[in-house]
Amino acid sequence: MNIYYLTLFPEMYEGILSSSILKRAEDKGLVNYQTLNFREYANNKHNQVDDYPYGGGAGMVLKPEPVYRAMDEIDLDNARVLLMCPSGRRFDQTFAEELSTEENIVFINGHYEGYDERIRKLATDEVSIGDYVLTGGEIASMAMTDAIVRLIPGVIQKESHENDSFSTGMLEHPHYTRPREYRGMKVPDVLLSGDHKKIEEWRYEESLKRTRERRPDLLEENEK
Ligand SMILES: C[S@@+](CC[C@H](N)C(=O)[O-])C[C@H]1O[C@@H](n2cnc3c(N)ncnc32)[C@H](O)[C@@H]1O
Repeated sequence: MNIYYLTLFPEMYEGILSSSILKRAEDKGLVNYQTLNFREYANNKHNQVDDYPYGGGAGMVLKPEPVYRAMDEIDLDNARVLLMCPSGRRFDQTFAEELSTEENIVFINGHYEGYDERIRKLATDEVSIGDYVLTGGEIASMAMTDAIVRLIPGVIQKESHENDSFSTGMLEHPHYTRPREYRGMKVPDVLLSGDHKKIEEWRYEESLKRTRERRPDLLEENEK
């Protein structure tokens, strides 16, 4: 998979993309990351990428030309082009699974007040990571990259993510490791029993209980 980030702040990606599983995925040749600073595509005297909004109002608006020119440079006709914006489709695990099968993904990251409306025409999808407003799309696209890349076959073991929260339609069951007892808190007996069928049943029940308590909406969604 090739992932491109159109951004005014490429340096924000450095730490995240060169650490942990995202880095390992790149080292294994399963993913390739590329940042493009669209200021370099401004093509005007002061490399200006934003301007005042027509009609007045607060904040600056991203101009269309630098973003269109950066897209011309990538020159892909089969890419998923994701425009980061609070008014987009809410990102979730199902969406991450869908995107993990793509060959080329482009993230267009806004900053300032927003985009010139004509930039939306470049997007195959408009995506939000939640109902809050970030300063820019960079952190949103990094969170999405993490969620997508770990699902690419060969990045982590399939068993490690197929029982994750949301993948099963529920929240994950509790985990315990050694010691058996810590500050009066004991590991449930069933986990020490060696009875795999009982352990599976316990995990399912705990998963269901946790989902009912914390996210009943997920169960309602499954029933639809
Ligand atoms: C300060 S925000 C602009 C918010 C815009 N004025 C609005 O009300 O929708 C600047 C940029 O951050 C990114 N952004 C902010 N919140 C986001 C979210 N929840 N999900 C994805 N991207 C977001 C978008 O790229 C957006 O263009």
